[in-house]
Amino acid sequence: MTIIRVPKAWKLPEAQVTSKSAYVNRRRFLKTIANASLGAGIVSALGCKGSSVPENNLVSSNQALTATLDQPSLEPFARNPAFKTVDRPITDEILAGQYNNYYEFGGSKSIWRASQALPTDNWQVTVTGLVKNPRTYDLDDLLKKFPLEERIYRLRCVEAWSMVLPWVGFPMKLLMAEVEPTDKARFVSFTSYYDPKISLAPVQSLGQKVPWPYTEGLRLEEMANELAFFAVGVYGEMLPKQYGAPIRAVLPWKYGFKGAKSIVKIDFVEQQPATFWNTLSPSEYGFEDNVNPNKPHPRWSQKTERFIGKGPDLSWEERPTLPYNGYEEYVASLYK
Ligand code: MTE
Repeated sequence: MTIIRVPKAWKLPEAQVTSKSAYVNRRRFLKTIANASLGAGIVSALGCKGSSVPENNLVSSNQALTATLDQPSLEPFARNPAFKTVDRPITDEILAGQYNNYYEFGGSKSIWRASQALPTDNWQVTVTGLVKNPRTYDLDDLLKKFPLEERIYRLRCVEAWSMVLPWVGFPMKLLMAEVEPTDKARFVSFTSYYDPKISLAPVQSLGQKVPWPYTEGLRLEEMANELAFFAVGVYGEMLPKQYGAPIRAVLPWKYGFKGAKSIVKIDFVEQQPATFWNTLSPSEYGFEDNVNPNKPHPRWSQKTERFIGKGPDLSWEERPTLPYNGYEEYVASLYK
């Protein structure tokens, strides 16, 4: 396996571009967002964690960054023995904490600063729609009601990045058992917090309305799967804002964009819900979008991935992409 230095800018080989129309909407949006939020010039072919914004401002230590990562501990929780290790090391905390996607707060990977504007006090999550027991939970209710556990999961970005993160949270199926979806419910929709007054993202991108707030969705069988997880913490502490505090979805067999951050609403519905990236660019970002090395993205192959996990020196390692991101035994039966 070759270890290669991360280049200063992420660039996708133009030779791998297969369809212009396939990516034009997302690309336009990302270009607009970069200009709007950073004045950072052109962001060309990029997407989830694949930015051509120079990343050479990543640091191995920084007091302001460390302060954002220094969160209250979440205890007690046990490491779930089924998910206590994967085939590669956990990504360095300082690196992972400054390399996030949270487009509400800008188009660069360094949204850790801007995302500190997210107001997380008195957080509430409303569970609504086709359920027998609709509820609005305070964060404390959630922390008390559902036993927390730690799970080490691979994270695979649609644009061929990967990391390994030690999440703390609870399985989605526990929340389902409590609210009891009715027989009519077939899908779930997650809505992220959005406030245009603090968001740095545009609402309009080159004539197209950007479908804020960020939404994502699943089939109910997917939500009930053992792997589907709500994270309230990472690295043993409460989620830092850049990760999508105080609660986000983690679906390790799917591309990272399926994991909505800073969830305020969970809606059980009958029809497949509209989702953010799928609305912007349906041919690039499917509703299902499981990690699949044999299904190329319209612009690039998904056969390999760049594993960012070698510590804060930014080195990465090229690895073969695993079907379902290595979680085939848990989820393949859902897609027969
Ligand atoms: N959720 C919201 N609300 N906004 C976003 O921009 N980005 C998604 C997902 N959830 C995103 C989001 C994408 S593209 C990825 S890859 C993951 O969050 C990144 O999670 P991380 O920053 O914790 O690694």
